[in-house]
Amino acid sequence: MINIEALYKVSYGLSIVCSGDKNRGNGFISNSVFQVTAEPPKFAVCCNKNNYTAEFIQRHNAFSISVPDQNVSSDIIGSFGSKSGKYFDKIAGKTIRYGDTGVPVILNRCIAFFEVKLLQTVDAGTHLIFIGELINAEVLDNNKEPLTYLYYRQVRKGVAPKNAPTYIDKSKLEKPKTNLISKRYKCPG
Ligand SMILES: Cc1cc2nc3c(=O)[nH]c(=O)nc-3n(C[C@H](O)[C@H](O)[C@H](O)COP(=O)(O)O)c2cc1C
Repeated sequence: MINIEALYKVSYGLSIVCSGDKNRGNGFISNSVFQVTAEPPKFAVCCNKNNYTAEFIQRHNAFSISVPDQNVSSDIIGSFGSKSGKYFDKIAGKTIRYGDTGVPVILNRCIAFFEVKLLQTVDAGTHLIFIGELINAEVLDNNKEPLTYLYYRQVRKGVAPKNAPTYIDKSKLEKPKTNLISKRYKCPG
């Protein structure tokens, strides 16, 4: 049996994952960035095959990871997390730095960023897992808290859309079983 509610008990952080170059870049919100190994430091991200950013990461063989502070604007989360860059330039107008590999790094309300050189791509079905070596890591603000998935869901009342690996189809949630015959109001005889 799979109780989908149990999946909410896993902890994640939210990041903005970007790739591309000065001509055209793109990025998406991810709650599936994690450190894979310590020596050498490697990071992975799970990216839906339909995400426009997947094409950029495969073409440029590198990606950046920006860690937003927990009060990052809803505009940033909305533009990177719920709209595809196929239809508009989502990094236009953002505060950007270009990394050693040439990929854009989003800085808006971000407290740290990483740059990763792609080493391996694992096909996981609906998603690709991009694994790469960390080549750059910087702290931008030591006084703010990173945005966690829990804070995003519970405080900011956000949800994960279909392309997120943690998307939950509410129609599949188990309904709580209720005891229809109340003990206190049993009909006599
Ligand atoms: C909270 C949150 C977490 C998400 N996590 C992921 C993720 O880990 N992997 C993924 O492929 N998409 C994830 N998404 C969905 C993408 O951010 C979204 O589909 C985005 O619009 C894709 O943009 P693109 O097509 O421009 O690449 C997440 C979205 C949100 C709001």
